[in-house]
Amino acid sequence: MDFLYLEEIDSTNKFAKENINSISDKTIIYTFKQTAGRGRLNRKWQFLGEDNIYSSIVLKPSPKMLDIYSNLTQLLCLVLAQVFEEYGVIPKIKWPNDIRINHKKISGILAEAVSEQNKLKGIVLGFGVNLNAPKSFLSGIDQPATALNIETEQDIDKKLFLKKVTEQFCLYYNDFIEEGFPLIREEYKRRAEFLNEPISVKVFDKVYEGIVVDITENGALKLKDENNKEHILLIGDIL
Ligand code: BTN
Repeated sequence: MDFLYLEEIDSTNKFAKENINSISDKTIIYTFKQTAGRGRLNRKWQFLGEDNIYSSIVLKPSPKMLDIYSNLTQLLCLVLAQVFEEYGVIPKIKWPNDIRINHKKISGILAEAVSEQNKLKGIVLGFGVNLNAPKSFLSGIDQPATALNIETEQDIDKKLFLKKVTEQFCLYYNDFIEEGFPLIREEYKRRAEFLNEPISVKVFDKVYEGIVVDITENGALKLKDENNKEHILLIGDIL
């Protein structure tokens, strides 16, 4: 893995996409000062101060886009959860790739693929982690949020956290590219929030309601509705 530190940037994902040709496979771009971070569904990712992580992993697994690449966000999500656990907290994965502690978001992932003339130039896995945030900053976020320093009542070493994440991601990566989601399915499910619980999921303009009965072999959410009909959701937002 190569590391690329940026002192200040609007968005590490945007930077990665704009410079994809000159960034090598398995590069970790990171900053502690991100001024215009972006989240999923055109949301903003708020800057919570310089003691937090704003990072993007650039991957170039092959020039052809494969279905399993869309599960890389779930791999990163599992890795982040495992690293959080090293700090003695209990993270839960809100499918597909949010991490929450005590029902409050602590980390989010934004994956973007860059293609040109049907060729995959690279995948950008952006992730933000709330490591050291004053409580007052968190109240400005549009959903319940927390940070690791609040959950553990201690200051967190941001560089050490980033090192743990990248090392753990590397340990899994080659096997994951071969085997895909089944490699991590059980570990992912063990941490999944809402398994066997009733939920609502928004997929574009449609809302599905039902009990989460499984996370499938390809990382999809399996929902059983009140008529016992099963729905396999590949994308969506748990409401
Ligand atoms: C989400 O939860 O909606 C995803 C948030 C992803 C935020 C990270 S911070 C580093 C990288 N650069 C960005 O602009 N966004 C991602």
